[in-house]
Amino acid sequence: MSEHPKIRVAVVYGGRSSEHGVSVVSAGSVLSALDPERYEVVPVGITRDGGWVLTGAEPEKLQITGRTLPEVDSGTAVMLPGDPTANGLVVVEPGEGAQVLAGVDVVFPVLHGRWGEDGTIQGLLEMAGVPYVGPGVFASAAAMDKEFTKKLLRAEGLPIGEYTVLHYGTDVSSVDFAHLGLPVFVKPARAGSSIGISKVKQWADFAPAVEAAFEHDDKVLVEAAVVGREVECGVLEDESGRPEASVPAEIRLVGDHDWYDFEAKYLDDACEFDIPAQLPAEVTARVRDLACRAFTALDCAGLARVDFFIRPDNTVLINELNTMPGFTPISMFPQVWAASGVDYPALIDRLIASALRRAAR
Ligand SMILES: Nc1ncnc2c1ncn2[C@@H]1O[C@H](COP(=O)(O)OP(=O)(O)O)[C@@H](O)[C@H]1O
Ligand SMILES: [Mg+2]
Repeated sequence: MSEHPKIRVAVVYGGRSSEHGVSVVSAGSVLSALDPERYEVVPVGITRDGGWVLTGAEPEKLQITGRTLPEVDSGTAVMLPGDPTANGLVVVEPGEGAQVLAGVDVVFPVLHGRWGEDGTIQGLLEMAGVPYVGPGVFASAAAMDKEFTKKLLRAEGLPIGEYTVLHYGTDVSSVDFAHLGLPVFVKPARAGSSIGISKVKQWADFAPAVEAAFEHDDKVLVEAAVVGREVECGVLEDESGRPEASVPAEIRLVGDHDWYDFEAKYLDDACEFDIPAQLPAEVTARVRDLACRAFTALDCAGLARVDFFIRPDNTVLINELNTMPGFTPISMFPQVWAASGVDYPALIDRLIASALRRAAR
């Protein structure tokens, strides 16, 4: 028995977004990294329909099998009232009457995409008065939205690529895309894991690409394709709340993948990570500096992964920020931190400590 009471951590995962399965795999890794001597873990799954359930933490249910991503399906119904006096999660299994589960000290929302990484669950947690890992409502919402990410970065003078925004219902023929050249990337403004994104190499393919992106959001970005290398950098808050950057890593696609699409990301073994990225020292320094400045520009807290393009002349553009990056065993974020001297369990400890520290201020 340790002399300190254990910290009760609710790991919330799954969720309604298209990245449900990825979130389950991320949560599996987080759950197995939480030291049982220090933490009491409450795994809370959110089904694809949005139902909250207490689940088990059996690792085999939280892994990719073959090409199938795992899912949250069943468990004891539970809810988190947006009411600090309710003091935690409430079990609402029919027939048993509502039962308050002891309060949780901190929530780790291992959720990717909408209703998870976009400020919505952060808003609920603020209402409930529960500390949580990661950026707050505003930063989460801003980083989820590729248009507002770019606007905030540009306002701080940080380098981004050229783009145009399309709102659903706009007559596409009235918008001039020619200045972007070809190819262009067409993407939903608020998605992730490359879902709904197309690379368009001829204008004949543009309309179907726009339609596909509108399946996921009513706002779509059309971006000039950047020719260059893809580099990602982890950011963590240090003990005084300042951002600290990991070593950058490069993603190199192998085989016949032309860009970093969903299959390349999760299913195909189609990419290799160079950790650290093989870059001239001044480019590495630039990437790390920009990662911290992007973190601050969006008012992030806790963690973020900042993604870049490095053009052949070594100029650097920021592509996007992810406020709850993947935490799967093969995900970039834990790996860049391991290469920077922070192993997976230490990373999780640090994230929980920073959530508790922020809440105590
Ligand atoms: N403007 C661009 N130029 C070149 N490649 C791009 C561009 N935008 C996206 N990509 C490619 O598509 C991938 C996914 O796009 P991204 O904007 O990062 O969306 P997501 O949030 O789904 O990760 C990138 O990792 C990159 O391979
Ligand atoms: Mg990306």
